[in-house]
Amino acid sequence: MKLTLATTLGFATTALTAAVPHTKRGAAISVTPHDSFSSSVGVLGCKINTDRVAYWPTPVSCAGVCVRVDAKGRSVFLLKIDTSGGAHDISYDAYNYLVTGQGAAENPIMGGPIEATYEDVDMSECAGLLSNANGKLGFAAANSMNFISSCPAGTWVGDNYSLFNIANSACTLGHDEECHLDLAVSNQPACPHMLGEQSELTTAPVWNKVYGTGVSVKGQ
Ligand SMILES: *[C@@H]1O[C@H](CO)[C@@H](O)[C@H](O)[C@H]1NC(C)=O
Repeated sequence: MKLTLATTLGFATTALTAAVPHTKRGAAISVTPHDSFSSSVGVLGCKINTDRVAYWPTPVSCAGVCVRVDAKGRSVFLLKIDTSGGAHDISYDAYNYLVTGQGAAENPIMGGPIEATYEDVDMSECAGLLSNANGKLGFAAANSMNFISSCPAGTWVGDNYSLFNIANSACTLGHDEECHLDLAVSNQPACPHMLGEQSELTTAPVWNKVYGTGVSVKGQ
């Protein structure tokens, strides 16, 4: 029903995001560091811990976006909310932690791919990475409907998304206010300000840790 709806709304349907099977335990990958937050599905950097993100080749799944990566006897939980061209990138801070046991700000390193394993895990394992007070995953209301509408009720994302009137993943444009989607009324989210309005937003900065130094710089 949601997929039909997406067509009605004029969004490109991305049906395959809804039914990505969970990986078997401990699939082998080679991970590399990524130092600038982005999300192909419109997750807002100011609503999550951007030091714990996975940028992977597989589509973002409606069933859940929490993965556990193990390497060198350590593990991290990551939000898999972006797609890459082929690499298994993870946030620089998470990479730095797997290699050294310390964060990128404390002990920044540079390095190549490391051998790791990963598995999809229950979203409860990633609860601490969501900075939204309501425990939901925050999306940009104006440009995430393609993905959201591909996630049926009963999937984790379908039941646990929230929409904000913030226009970009770095949270520098828009209004930090919640929007509501009531499909009985409209196929567009309703927000206190006009949907997608691009005022300068300075209250919800997203910080990236620069590769090699661990210095925090504000995302653009
Ligand atoms: C949505 O999140 C709540 C609270 O974390 C959880 O109990 C529920 O199972 C989630 N919904 C789905 C479909 O996973």
